[in-house]
Amino acid sequence: MPENETMARSLAEKCNAELGEAVIRHFPDGESYIRILSDVQDKQLILVCTLSPPDDKIWPIIFFSRIARELGAKNICLFAPYLAYMRQDKRFQPGEGIAADYFSKLLSTFVDSIITVDPHLHRIKSLSDIYSVPAVVIHGSGLITEWIRSNIERPVFIGPNQESEQWVSAVAGEAGVPYLILRKTRKGDRDVEVFIPDVESYSGHTPVLVDDIISTASTMISTIRHLTAAGMQKPVCIGVHGIFAGDAYERLVAA
Ligand code: R5P
Repeated sequence: MPENETMARSLAEKCNAELGEAVIRHFPDGESYIRILSDVQDKQLILVCTLSPPDDKIWPIIFFSRIARELGAKNICLFAPYLAYMRQDKRFQPGEGIAADYFSKLLSTFVDSIITVDPHLHRIKSLSDIYSVPAVVIHGSGLITEWIRSNIERPVFIGPNQESEQWVSAVAGEAGVPYLILRKTRKGDRDVEVFIPDVESYSGHTPVLVDDIISTASTMISTIRHLTAAGMQKPVCIGVHGIFAGDAYERLVAA
């Protein structure tokens, strides 16, 4: 899929797979146009498409998989390093829906399996609870641990919310490093408050913030402000999925 070419090329080389060709673009009115150029008959296809931002990607995925089936593809696996819509996992307010559920049902209709990296599993405990096709999860913790070991002296891991405990504890456990989990209250898309218990006892350490998603970066920025106010050193921020909505990256760097 567009913008995923580098990753697809590198995966094809590593898997010793053929690199397929297709034309995927939008008409001037915004409708999607797909034309599969490679011979896909009886082949197992791996469609490479990270789902950020998701709404632009879903129609091309749907059309591609329909066409590929009509052309005789044996099966279609979606490799989506970032799996969207996992955070809308409950009805937070009356009138809302559970988008994680609708999205997974839709994708499960069009592809035969999914491979993703550290999906946001919070209230939904496993992808098999919402995806009816096999879904394989790859974890980034090994690479993160390796990077921290070679780059950071005296780290203390900080998870900005309860959900992050699963990633932070995994990385901290592997690296043999202490960790703290903060309490977070989200009041709006860009309005996040955090509370940090006991952080002063780690003033000689480098705080390493670890979260699965950095979207508006408000969670990270709010955590950084509290760490700074508590006299901590400048932190290192690690997100498995750097979404960086709008000017999030610039705001994070400035913080
Ligand atoms: C929360 O549910 C996630 O684990 C992340 O903390 C959250 O998605 C980060 O979002 P933002 O960057 O918009 O604060």
